[in-house]
Amino acid sequence: MTDQLRTDGTLRHLLTLEGLPKSLLEHLLERSQSFVRPLGSPPALSNVLNGATVANLFTEPSTRTRVSFELAAKRLGAQVVNLELQLSSRVKGESMLDTVYTLESLHVDAFVIRDAEVGVPALVAGHVAPHVSVLSAGEAHVAHPTQGLLDALTILQRRQRFAGLSVAIVGDIRHSRVARSGWHVLRTLGVTDLRIVAPPALMPAAEEFPGVARFTSLDAGLDGADVIMMLRIQKERMGDADLPEGTGYFRAWGLTPQRLKLARPDAIVMHPQPMNRGIEIASEVADGPQSVIRDQVRNGVAVRMAVLAEALTSRGGRA
Ligand code: CP
Repeated sequence: MTDQLRTDGTLRHLLTLEGLPKSLLEHLLERSQSFVRPLGSPPALSNVLNGATVANLFTEPSTRTRVSFELAAKRLGAQVVNLELQLSSRVKGESMLDTVYTLESLHVDAFVIRDAEVGVPALVAGHVAPHVSVLSAGEAHVAHPTQGLLDALTILQRRQRFAGLSVAIVGDIRHSRVARSGWHVLRTLGVTDLRIVAPPALMPAAEEFPGVARFTSLDAGLDGADVIMMLRIQKERMGDADLPEGTGYFRAWGLTPQRLKLARPDAIVMHPQPMNRGIEIASEVADGPQSVIRDQVRNGVAVRMAVLAEALTSRGGRA
C-alpha cells in the first residue's frame, strides 16, 4: 500500500481512511469544521492554494464529489482542470499513467481520482512526482475517504461525540465504498456499536468488517440506533443478486417513517446520495426532520477544502 503520509506525519495522499491515526482524523475534522458556513451566508474563502492546480479525473459518474472537489479547490484559490475522460486521449488508448504524466508536465499538483477499478488511485500515487498528491474520490467498492470524513463530521455536529453511539449502516454493504470508509473512520474515532444491516445477498464476505455486528433483519438492526446510514442499491456493481425488485425491496428493506420509530427518537438519518427514493428510503424520511442528508452535502465541500489544504500546504514551501 502506498504511504499516505510524509515522513513528518503530514498527509500527502488520501486513498483510504484505514490505518490513519486518530489524531490526524480529528485534525481533519476540526479543519473541515472551520470551513463550514450556514446556508444563506457566503462560503468560506481562502487563498492558501493560490498558484496550485488540481485535476479531477473521474471515470465514473458523480455529482456531489466532483462538484464539491472543484468548488473546494477554487474556494482555496487553486486552478481546476476537469478532464472529460470520454473526450480525452484515453479513448484513443492512452493509459491512465500517461494521462497523469501529461498533466504533471502542465503543473498539476493534485489528482482527484474516481475509478471503477480497484487500485487505480494507489497506482497513480505510486508514480507521481514527490510534490504531487493523489486524493481518492471513490475507488470501486473499496474506499471513498472524503465521504467517510464528511459522514463523521455530520455525526459530530449533531452528537458532539462518537463514543457510546450506535450506528447502523443499512442496505447494499457488499458493494459499498461508503460503508467501508465509514467503518474505518468511525471505528478509529471511537464508535463501538457499529452495525451492518443487509439482506444476505448484500452482506459482505465473512472476513470483512471484523468485529462489527451483522443483522439480516432491518427491524433488529434499527433498534435503538442513534445514527442510521442508508445506502443505495448499486445495480452497476451487482451480478445476479438474489434480491426483491423495486417495491418488493422497499417493503422489506426501505426506511419508512414507521421503521424509523424503532431507532432512538432523536436518531439522525443519513444517505450519501444519489438516493433511490421509494426503494431504500421513503421521501417522508429523506426530507423529514431527522434527515441530515443535506448537511452531508454541505459538509462535503468543507471536508474537501480541508483535505486539499492539508495535502498541498504541508509539502515544504510550495503552495
Ligand atoms: N456521495 C457521492 O459520492 O455522490 P456522487 O456519486 O454524486 O459523487
